[in-house]
Amino acid sequence: MLSRQAAYDFVKGRIANPNLFRHMLATEAVMEDLAERLGEDRALWGLTGLLHDLDLDVTEGDMTRHGRVAYEVLGGMDVPEELRRAVLAHVGHVAAESRLERAIVAADPVTGLITAGALVVPTRKLADVKVESLRKRMKEKRFAANVSREQIATCVGLGLELEEFLGLALRAMQRVSADLGL
Ligand SMILES: [Fe+2]
Repeated sequence: MLSRQAAYDFVKGRIANPNLFRHMLATEAVMEDLAERLGEDRALWGLTGLLHDLDLDVTEGDMTRHGRVAYEVLGGMDVPEELRRAVLAHVGHVAAESRLERAIVAADPVTGLITAGALVVPTRKLADVKVESLRKRMKEKRFAANVSREQIATCVGLGLELEEFLGLALRAMQRVSADLGL
């Protein structure tokens, strides 16, 4: 399987938008911690998070191609088919069925919620974000309005209550906060 460093270098070389690159690092961290929590393959799940949006440099705004282009690109790389399918599933091109597929569907939007949560605390630091405030913000439709609450809530399908999922994702992002600039 593709090494983490090779995947990192590939994504870094392809994704010029620093916020998008950070989103992929954040999703990687959440997926790694989810894998640990669920007894799954940390390396595979982390790689799925790191690579899941790799085609947004050419598909931004085109949800019919987003995911499908990445699926093709990943076909030329040493990654398992289950990773490629999860990338398709995170955009809804195929139903999310496996645990990996369901995890990326929930992990992708939660990073957006938590990043937005950090930007509204006075220090703008993840260290000062609280799970309780994230829960409240989820109920405010205008807060991070593009973040799918429905997708985040699918964490229960993985066996995690919302509060636990938010806490796990927050701690994961705090773990890599220096890379996220937050
Ligand atoms: Fe994403």
